[in-house]
Parts: sequence; C-alpha cells; structure tokens
Amino acid sequence: AGADIGLVGLGTMGANLALNIAENGFKIAVYNRTTAKTVAFHENAGDLAGNVVPALDLENFVQSLKRPRAVILMVPAGEAVDAQIQALAPLLDWEDLIIDAGNADYHDTNLRAQATMNSGPRFMGIGVSGGEEGARHGPSIMAGGAKDGWDEVAPILKAISAKYEDSPCAAHLGEAGAGHLVKTVHNGIEYADMQMIAEVYGIMRDGYGYTAVQTAEVFEAWDRGALQSYLIKISGKVSRAVDPETAAPMLDVILDRAGQKGTGRWTAIEALMLSTPMGTIEAAVGARNMSALIGKRRQGQALFGPSVQKMSSDQIAPSLLEAALIAGKIICYAQGFELISAAAKQYDWSMPLADIARIWRAGCIIRSSMLNDMASALSDDPDRNLMFAPYFAERLKETHEALRAVVAQGAMHGLPVPALSAALSYFDTMRTERSTANLLQAQRDFFGAHGFERVDREGKGFHGPWAMG
Ligand code: 6PG
Repeated sequence: AGADIGLVGLGTMGANLALNIAENGFKIAVYNRTTAKTVAFHENAGDLAGNVVPALDLENFVQSLKRPRAVILMVPAGEAVDAQIQALAPLLDWEDLIIDAGNADYHDTNLRAQATMNSGPRFMGIGVSGGEEGARHGPSIMAGGAKDGWDEVAPILKAISAKYEDSPCAAHLGEAGAGHLVKTVHNGIEYADMQMIAEVYGIMRDGYGYTAVQTAEVFEAWDRGALQSYLIKISGKVSRAVDPETAAPMLDVILDRAGQKGTGRWTAIEALMLSTPMGTIEAAVGARNMSALIGKRRQGQALFGPSVQKMSSDQIAPSLLEAALIAGKIICYAQGFELISAAAKQYDWSMPLADIARIWRAGCIIRSSMLNDMASALSDDPDRNLMFAPYFAERLKETHEALRAVVAQGAMHGLPVPALSAALSYFDTMRTERSTANLLQAQRDFFGAHGFERVDREGKGFHGPWAMG
C-alpha cells in the first residue's frame, strides 16, 4: 500500500487529472473498467509513470492505497457513479473516502452523502472546472461533503488546482452536494456569459455586417479591458480561426445548433425550485433550445421574411456593446450568487460566497478579472445583492444605459438579444419599488378569493369589492 490517492475512470478528464496529480509529486493508483485503457495510460505516462500505480481490478486498486484511502471517481454522471460506489463500498472501510469529481446533479450528491452517512465510506462531491486543459494543468475545484475528508485530501487538491497569484483555486464550500451545486451554477453562469457574448457577436455580424476577423479584433480589444476573461479571449481566437478545408472563417462553417449536456438547464430548474430569479440563465438555456429548431426557423424566415436589418456602428458603437456586456455580466453574476445563497439557506450550508468568487478567478471556464472585484465585494457583505455593492453599483451606473440602448436597438433591428434583455429586465425590476404585482393579486382574489395584503395596514387575507355576496 503506497499510493496517496486513487482515481477510477480514465476518460479524458480522469486521465488528465491523474497526470496532474502525478506531476505534483503524489503517487496515484488508477483503475479503469476496460483494463487496456489502464495499461495504455501507464505506458504513455512518460516521466510520470513512476508515480502511477496501474491496477487491473478493483481489489488490487484498493489494496494499493494508503489508509485512510481516498478514491476519486471520474465517471459519467448518473448511474455509472452509483455503480462504482456500489462496487467500491464493500472493499472500503468507513473511514475511507469516495470523491465524485464528475458533473453530478447535486441532489444526487445529497442522496449519496446521506446514504453513506452511517455506514461509510465518507463521501464528497467536487466540481472540477477548466475543461481538459484545466484538469491537466490546474482546474478550479469546488468541494462539498465530508469536511474531515477534505482536510485529508486538501493538500493534493490544492496542489493540483489553478493558482490565482499564489492562492489555490480549491475550497470546501459546504456539506453534501454544496460543491456540485456551486459547479452547476458555475455552468449556468457559463451558459449566460457565452450567450450574451453570442448576442453582441450577432449585432456585429448581422447588424454591422462585420467579418469574422473584424469581430476578432473587437474581442481582442475587449480582452485588454474590463471584460478580460477566458470566454472573451477564446471568442477572439475562434473568430480568427480559418477552416483548413475551405479557407473560410471557421465560424462561418460551424452549424448554429448548440449542444448542451444539462448543467445549464439544471441551474434554471434549481432557480425556479428555489424561487430565485435567474432570467439570464433561463434565456441562455432557451436560446440553446431554439438553436436546435433549425427547420422551424427556416420556415419562419420564409413566411415572415428575415428579421435582421442592418445597423451602422454609429448607431451602436462597439464601445456600447462592451458596456452592455459589462452590465449584463454583473447582473448575471448577481443572479448566480443569489441562487447559491438561496440553496445555502435551504440546506443550511455555510457557502462562503467570497471564497466561491476567489476560486473562480483562475482555472475555470468563467475565470475573469471581474471575479477579483466580486470576491472583494462579497467578502465585505455576502448577503447584499452584488449589484448593490458600491463598486458594482458604480459600474452599473456607468453601463446600464448602454445595456438599454443595445437591447432597444437589437429589438428595432430584429436582432434577438434574449439574455441581455433578461438582464435589463432584472435590473429595472430591482429598482422598481412599486411593481405591478398588485394587479396579479387583484386577479387572484377575483377568480379564486386568494386574498391580498394592503399597502395601508398590516395583515393578510383582504378581499376586493368583487367578492361574491
Ligand atoms: C467546465 C465546463 C465543463 C463543460 C460542461 C458544459 O467548467 O469545465 O463547464 O463542465 O464544458 O459540461 O457543457 P455543455 O455546454 O455541453 O452543457
């Protein structure tokens, strides 16, 4: 028994994570159901092979681990995780630790944590973000579950994580499914961030008539300013790329039908379940769903004519698009952090919001310079809506008119901007003291005698003069 940690599942993410662990000087035992994969992984590990202990069956795998044993599962979310837990649990002791590192539904993680509570082994769910590159050289790690287990594996997980300046992007965020909930919201924000970028790309491509190279120049400039982020950077890169087969801009030959594996949808569902407004993410998921309706969109275009009308970059300058994106981004994160807070309250998790912003500053897909300011704002006051933190309130005062102009001009020119519109609606609603829900209450009382509250006195269950009788 000599390995510091074990890993089951040598797919792309698992293999990269294992190499990362080995490279950081830890001995890692690896197991894959298809044994050829385990053998090949060891053979191809090069200089790192000395830190890799390949195991051809689970018994040997478990026996090769130091006690208390810690096993990372990197298998597809869902049944495969349960199957692995069932196979491993009889071989492990109660003080051992299973760590599910896949993109699990956090409700499943809650159940799995509950199921192992009395009998062991201990259980953790960790969200790992950063794609293949991140897994290999430094992901952001959002951990939840057994805190004592975290204390044992933290030296390994912190060592392999991305670093922002010197601080590791790995933290324990709460019990049971807390880490997977945070990873899910991370992905929801990822969807909204990507969608808002795609919306301003649409204005540049279809409104201004920009070529892919022209949009690349804009993204590259933005990446040097307040929007500096991984997603803006790669938007510049993909806009510059050329298709080796046709020599056309790569973007122009990619079909406009977006895939989705489900985490964005989970975020939107969770927001609805926890009664938390999350319009930007709902819009982003909706936009991906609409992207799949290619045939119907074609029919619509034939019937009504194309929606897009050209606009000049004098009407809406690229600098206004930049400002609109800044506003949209602040609003989308405000919603995301509100959702995390709501889940924390529901499950009584500690959820240090500032730490979440801190571990998102490097390694993960949504990393950006703005997250550093978010970490400061959230550590000043985690309970305040991010839009109301003085720093972000100032940024919104500078940018919300641009957001309004872009949404309005988008509407006037037939350029759909659903996530930016959702951001604007949230912003406007959040600064409207008297909303229109008084009418909803009147309607509810009219048709169902549901009762309402009054502005001029305490109490519930008042009825209008329309009540029968
Ligand atoms: C990450 C990513 C990663 C992946 C998601 C999104 O944080 O590294 O979010 O988890 O890209 O699975 O995938 P879909 O766009 O297919 O839903």
